[in-house]
Amino acid sequence: MIQYQEEQQQLNLYTENNQLSIGILPSGHVVLLYFGKKITSDSLSYITGEIKRASYLADTDSIKDFKLEQLPFIYPAYGNPDLRTPAFQFTYENGSRISDYRYKTHRIYDGKKKIPGLPSTNTATKLSTLELVLKDEITSNEIMLSISCFDEYDIFTQHVEVFNYSKEKLKINQIMSVNLDFLTDKFDLITLSGAWGRESHIHRNKIRQGYQGIDSKRGASGHGQNPFIALVDPSTNENSGNVYSMNFIYSGNFIANVEVDMHQNTRMQLGINPFDFEWCLSPGEVFYTPEAVLVFSNEGLNGMSQLYHRFYLECLMQSNHARKERPVLINNWEATYFDFNKETILSLAKEASEIGIELFVLDDGWFGERNGDNSSLGDWVPNEKKLGGSLKNLIKDVNKLGLDFGLWLEPEMISRNSNLFKEHPDWIIQVPGRVPQQVRNQLVLDLSRKDVQNFLIETIDSLLKENNITYLKWDMNRNLTDMGSILLESDYQKELGHRYILGLYFILETLLAKHPDVLIESCAGGGGRFDPGMLYYTPQIWTSDNTDAIERLATQEGISLLYPPVSMSCHVSAVPNHQVGRMTTLNTRGIVAQQGNFGYEINLLDATMEDKLQMKLQIEFYKKYRNTFQFGQHYRLNVYDEQNEKAWMKLDAKKVIVSHVYRLAKVNTVPKRLKLQNLEETASYRLEGTKRTFKGDELMEIGIALDKPTHDFYASQWVFTREK
Ligand code: DGJ
Repeated sequence: MIQYQEEQQQLNLYTENNQLSIGILPSGHVVLLYFGKKITSDSLSYITGEIKRASYLADTDSIKDFKLEQLPFIYPAYGNPDLRTPAFQFTYENGSRISDYRYKTHRIYDGKKKIPGLPSTNTATKLSTLELVLKDEITSNEIMLSISCFDEYDIFTQHVEVFNYSKEKLKINQIMSVNLDFLTDKFDLITLSGAWGRESHIHRNKIRQGYQGIDSKRGASGHGQNPFIALVDPSTNENSGNVYSMNFIYSGNFIANVEVDMHQNTRMQLGINPFDFEWCLSPGEVFYTPEAVLVFSNEGLNGMSQLYHRFYLECLMQSNHARKERPVLINNWEATYFDFNKETILSLAKEASEIGIELFVLDDGWFGERNGDNSSLGDWVPNEKKLGGSLKNLIKDVNKLGLDFGLWLEPEMISRNSNLFKEHPDWIIQVPGRVPQQVRNQLVLDLSRKDVQNFLIETIDSLLKENNITYLKWDMNRNLTDMGSILLESDYQKELGHRYILGLYFILETLLAKHPDVLIESCAGGGGRFDPGMLYYTPQIWTSDNTDAIERLATQEGISLLYPPVSMSCHVSAVPNHQVGRMTTLNTRGIVAQQGNFGYEINLLDATMEDKLQMKLQIEFYKKYRNTFQFGQHYRLNVYDEQNEKAWMKLDAKKVIVSHVYRLAKVNTVPKRLKLQNLEETASYRLEGTKRTFKGDELMEIGIALDKPTHDFYASQWVFTREK
């Protein structure tokens, strides 16, 4: 709900429990009065008047003590005495970088518009939007902040539109999607940071005076940082305390920063990374920023996660599969790598079918001359020699075994050693006169080009039309270097990073419109593009190339902060683990992989009868509780020894599944009890496999007894059925 109080010049945006209040000052500057839990008073315009004046700072508009640098802005400009980091910066044709955008008008309406060319949220029943228009009198240009309130989801989203109403070109040097100013610096900063193979670990640090934050310059959201930041009260933990967070519906270069000024105020921003970015806006044109999701919770990090999970499942993910149960799959990558033929594939598929797997995914190596990572990307023609005939026939044979068929592709890439490169050397991202860097022996197609977009759409469309493929794994194994596009004029070269992502979104959008029932799993060398932009199109994402159960604990915990567990693909793989050489039991690998969207990536032809039987039972178990595993509420549980244990639970109206993993077994220690959460206090919960029944409050206040670990990496799981 959005309310305008004309007399107070205040706009209150409410969701069921939260509030964002904006004030319009007599000068036309627009300030953020409040963001947090809904409060009863709706008149907050006194706040800015009560800010005590610091010495030294400059006055504005010749008004004594009107010090912009002390005000909490909603979208600060560059060129005035607020000398903190602005939310945007433009360069005008005369070389000026000075902007003065002040309140012009606003409009409130029910619903929300799509953002042209970009993925965005929609589809809530109670949804209203505020369009707040700011105008620069000198140039006549306008900026519109579009803020939507998803009432029942307790979520706000924001994107920005820039309108060039002048007769001159406007260069956008920097354009954030959101800016929040707080009048304190008593916060910790949480980010999801890491690297290939150890993506999205939770990092938490106290903030300090100065500029700090995260970004990606990799052409993708990247393995290093997820496009997310949160400021939390120092006392905030999993289940209590304030969290102010931002997540970006975008898959390219981003920046998320926090700046603490000289007077202990904090500015928090999220947007396209201004590094190597510029957008040239001709007269009459509009620029749209990607959308940012703003989540406030006063119920700690678990509270925040609940809000993101439900919102993404119901209002972001567009795929027909988003809210459907996902198949248990087997992927042949770690089983065979490039070394397979028809016989291996069919034998693997037969074994998979016997243990209850539902989908067979043929990974890299099925096309062109690709028997290693040094050729054929771009030549998406089945290697009939390797496949023992046509792809169509192979799929038929796999289908006969009772399995659906999925195929790996890396559409954005091209090998120098490919027919496509011979025909179109100009299609790659490159700067004429320089030899572009190869990474994993591959170059990147220039997705900003229409001809490249059309080639990919036509190629993938015909693969899908001609073959019974129900799933695609859309991989992307290198970041973008040598940023240059042959077709862009020099003034537009810095647009390439953003145009690449717009091209990618266009291709995905077009293909999904043609093949709405194909389930696409996104992958970027594991979790190199695990972001809400991809989630809009691809309702599941390969979480990490690191499949070790113990290493996965930290990555999956980080991902679970924001993204619904069903979006997080997790596979049981072989031991010794291929990335870290660790030995873990099949039980532990199964329990950890069941935290998300479950599958296997293991050579069943090498597996013992005993292991296959255990996998069969694992799959039966997962299928029995699949709905709870995939769509239940996911809570991270408090454990006694945070360094050595992880625990989580899944909860829906009927079932509770609790999982617990020890890293190391320790001698002469006694396990503490594990307390559950968010159960109905007076309801009874029966422990499956026993006749024991517990009350909800009993499980939450006393908890369940943990096993004493008999070896390192020991995992346990319990299922409770709610009786009444
Ligand atoms: C990287 C992916 O993350 C792997 O799962 C696999 O698909 C390889 N690429 C194939 O090249």
